[in-house]
Amino acid sequence: MPHNQRSWAEPYKIKMVEPLVTMSRSERHAALQRAGYNTFLLTSSEVYIDLLTDSGTSAMSDRQWAALMLGDESYAGSRNFYHLEEAVRDIYGYEHVIPTHQGRAAEHLISTLMISRGDIVPGNMYFTTTRLHQELAGASFVDVIIDEAHDPTSEHPFKGNIDLAKLQAVIDEHGADRIPYLSLATTVNMCGGQPISMANVHAVSELVRQHGIPIVHDATRCVENAFMIRQHESGCQGRSIAEIVHEICSLTDVCTMSAKKDSLVNIGGFLAMRDDALAERARNLVVVYEGLHTYGGLAGRDMEAMAVGIRESVDLNHVAARVGQVHYLGGRLIEAGIPIVKPIGTHGVFLDARRFLPHLSTELFPAQALTAEIYLDSGVRAMERGIVSAGRDPLSGCHRRPELELVRLTIPRRVYTQAHMDVVAESIREVHQQRDSIAGLEMTFEPKFLRFFQARFRPLPETAMPAGESGRTVPEPPGRSAGSNGESMPAEPRYQPEGRST
Ligand code: F0G
Repeated sequence: MPHNQRSWAEPYKIKMVEPLVTMSRSERHAALQRAGYNTFLLTSSEVYIDLLTDSGTSAMSDRQWAALMLGDESYAGSRNFYHLEEAVRDIYGYEHVIPTHQGRAAEHLISTLMISRGDIVPGNMYFTTTRLHQELAGASFVDVIIDEAHDPTSEHPFKGNIDLAKLQAVIDEHGADRIPYLSLATTVNMCGGQPISMANVHAVSELVRQHGIPIVHDATRCVENAFMIRQHESGCQGRSIAEIVHEICSLTDVCTMSAKKDSLVNIGGFLAMRDDALAERARNLVVVYEGLHTYGGLAGRDMEAMAVGIRESVDLNHVAARVGQVHYLGGRLIEAGIPIVKPIGTHGVFLDARRFLPHLSTELFPAQALTAEIYLDSGVRAMERGIVSAGRDPLSGCHRRPELELVRLTIPRRVYTQAHMDVVAESIREVHQQRDSIAGLEMTFEPKFLRFFQARFRPLPETAMPAGESGRTVPEPPGRSAGSNGESMPAEPRYQPEGRST
């Protein structure tokens, strides 16, 4: 990718290595069956190249490892907390910092503190854990992202943008009083790691401010978003990543953070905010679920590594190489004619399973089936981001049907080399050549919450396409009838969120 005509390389050298394992196809087949065709249920020793997630999978730097040795494991007032607080204030600019063990813990706290039963939370596309915590606190989430985000072929450079007219319509319909906050993510994970533009953040912030609605910013991949702004938004080219991050944050009120992504640590997160009174309530609630407000479920050493990681993350060479590696893989797949979400995002390459497997209807879980097939081919572990991840609507109990049916090849930071990316591209190409023989799946076990983590499936071989046929959609596997809600999957007793109001 960036900067000039010459090749670029990773801005680090490797000091310690971890051997990879390889297994035979028949061993992988046995592993897949044991795992119920869900890559979350494989053991890591069954995986060759692990692109399940970029969460907690980064390689820490030598400075971060050294920082671990400076852990101050005092129950209260550990010096590592103050280093973390200082790093968050410097880079993100929020005054109050409350550590949590990871991002969803921060989401739990802020949802509990700000949401009352019956509230509406608009946002730029859902994220699984974020929306679940909003629902468990009694709110309904409304997607106000631009239409282009739902179209894998749209080349809009900022598909994370919020549609101001949609947002205004939600405010008009429900009234600002029923909207405890706007949920704004940088970048948007579920549509392909797509950034939001600085201009859009400004416009959105101005609009909600007129109605007294605060913004809760999911800053999990804000650094990567800032890099895309620097690359593609006019007037931002010469700016530092830290400056851009700071400006985005300055337009928001509260921040939830999974430090397992941008901040280059294996565990950790935080909740941060400007408002003194809200911070006081958050510091009180964190004691109930996480631990004292100066450690929030983390060891002192973890907070120190996070403080160092936050500062490393805004280095331009680091983020350019990180996003560059994702774009390298995406470029190779585009060259091979593989249907992927465009433009290429920042934390992974997302395969468009609908176009990859047009013979499988959504009921046959094409993205889940493709994820399983890629593992079978090469031991590369990816993740479904489609109908399984979307789960069920809490009120109707029906499956949510997102337009996007994707397989995410997520790249851990500073872990794999360009040669690994080549191997991944070759495997996807091979699977694409044999796509007609890929069968759909049937769900045999469905957990109540965040089902994609633990659901189990079995293949329906009769749904693969007979040799020679192509382009046919198989609507319904034989022998199964649609349920009363018009759906073919096993009926799940609907659950009611146990909403809490404050
Ligand atoms: N927000 C976003 C945008 C995320 O991607 C994640 C996690 C979270 C919040 C929750 O953070 O895992 O630390 O509790 N995403 C991971 C992923 C799980 O694989 O995309 P967490």
